[in-house]
Amino acid sequence: MKIAVFASGSGSNFEAITEGCKAGEIPGEVVLCVCDRPGAQVESRAHRLGIPLLSLSPKSFADKEAYERRIVDELRREGVELVCLAGYMRIVGPTLLGAFPRRILNIHPSLLPAFKGKDAIRRAFEQGEKRFGATVHYVDETLDGGDIIVQQSFDYNGDDFEELERHVHKVEHGLYRKAIKQVIHPSH
Ligand code: GRF
Repeated sequence: MKIAVFASGSGSNFEAITEGCKAGEIPGEVVLCVCDRPGAQVESRAHRLGIPLLSLSPKSFADKEAYERRIVDELRREGVELVCLAGYMRIVGPTLLGAFPRRILNIHPSLLPAFKGKDAIRRAFEQGEKRFGATVHYVDETLDGGDIIVQQSFDYNGDDFEELERHVHKVEHGLYRKAIKQVIHPSH
């Protein structure tokens, strides 16, 4: 299963997925990293891990459709069958969605449908939540909507936001690998 990972920032989930494939835990191969923020940290991870990088600036395209068409062309050229969004800070449009129906996944650092959108961990923490977690779901045209594939939760009663954030990310890295395995082999 050829996988492309899309990211806009740090890329720790990109790295976790890539390592999961290299270790044989995920029956797939990351063949492309797509980044919409040239210079983001995920790019140096892609270089270090030897994964081909497509770095595009959406502003340099006439519109979203043209931007996504360029990406779809590249995904097709690479034979990509599964798209994993991992900190990709953009709503996917009909061009990309139509090209990969039910083949685009996303990870979100909350127990969806709670805390959709940006700064989910911070908002949950500030509202006094004690139960946190992460969700992997299919992507549709809505923000952090789409059918849920897997979720994992944990309780946190502390007051150290950085510690909480680290824990959410750790959970995410295992959860994304599990979700991809499940999508590739639903019966396992
Ligand atoms: C993760 O928390 C993910 O859930 C959210 O963006 C963050 C990306 O982190 N969508 P990283 O770039 O994978 O380190």
